[in-house]
Amino acid sequence: MYGIDTDGPADNSGAVDLRSDTLTRPTPAMRRAMAEAEVGDDVYREDPTVTALEERVAELFGHEAALFVPSGTMGNQIGLRLVCEPGQEVLGDADCHVLTYEMGAAAALFGLSSRTVVSAGGRLSADQLVEQVRPHGDWHLTATAAIAVENTHNRGGGLVQPLPELQRLFDWSRGAGVAVHLDGARVFNAHVASGVPLSTYGRLADTASVCLSKGLGAPIGSVLVASAERIAAGRLWRKRLGGGMRQVGVLAAAGLHALDHHVERLADDHENARLLAERLGTDPASVETNMVVVDDVPAPAVAEAAKAQGVLVGQVGPRRIRMVTHLDVDRAGVERAADVVSKVLADL
Ligand SMILES: Cc1ncc(COP(=O)(O)O)c(C=O)c1O
Repeated sequence: MYGIDTDGPADNSGAVDLRSDTLTRPTPAMRRAMAEAEVGDDVYREDPTVTALEERVAELFGHEAALFVPSGTMGNQIGLRLVCEPGQEVLGDADCHVLTYEMGAAAALFGLSSRTVVSAGGRLSADQLVEQVRPHGDWHLTATAAIAVENTHNRGGGLVQPLPELQRLFDWSRGAGVAVHLDGARVFNAHVASGVPLSTYGRLADTASVCLSKGLGAPIGSVLVASAERIAAGRLWRKRLGGGMRQVGVLAAAGLHALDHHVERLADDHENARLLAERLGTDPASVETNMVVVDDVPAPAVAEAAKAQGVLVGQVGPRRIRMVTHLDVDRAGVERAADVVSKVLADL
């Protein structure tokens, strides 16, 4: 019912579109980089641009190897499969993307069981998760093989996970034989907001999927990082899932361009989100990255009224709207959105 908006084909040109940071279109410079990319058949591992992207992302996150995949969902699901066997369990918070928005893929594709804890708005508590872990080797229990962590947290309104909790969870997991998977769809936002190096976030996970097609503005693509052995196995899973791609250096080039030009600028999106929150009377402290959430409003009515005035907002619950700032919305667009949405809210 209330997932990510699926309005269907629509002409939203000219609108200030704050539904998601996935809506960005490649910039002219990114398109040039794509057009000029050197390519080869990546299933044969002969695409130099894909290889360059994989090496670069592996190094950024301090892992041995990486795998370019078409989507964050594929990166997450292969990542989970690499650290869980069928019949084992993934533990995560009840609002995490991998267990909420990925169509039950872990169960449907891989026979993985899942269990959730209700967190405080998505914020990670290592103790809360650790308490729920079920041991290996028991005759009755479903063994917890992995814990999924999301940073930043989407349904948590873009919150940045506290580093001490990530560290505690990872330290604990070493002795427990439980893997940590990071859904890092927006880990670049976390890095820019917190100043924590990407390599630190990377080393606190066994597998991590990071997206190029969210705030970084590439049209497609995610990268899964892990050990060389796991990535070799992940390559087989990607092929089985139909994700073996051919001359996709054109897409990897967009990712490389985004890494060169679109990481530091995420700070602008964060500032725009804070400005929007202030203008809407939302606590700016609740805005840690590029998302502004307004609760206790009739979401469909607000979205419709704003849309009629050229501003698109996301409905992520019957009484919750969400606005996400990104590369395609500049300061003037944010001011316009603030004018429209604040008036819509005042007129309720
Ligand atoms: C936190 C998070 N993880 C994973 C994904 C999945 O990415 P994709 O849409 O590329 O499959 C998303 C998508 O919005 C997301 O927000």
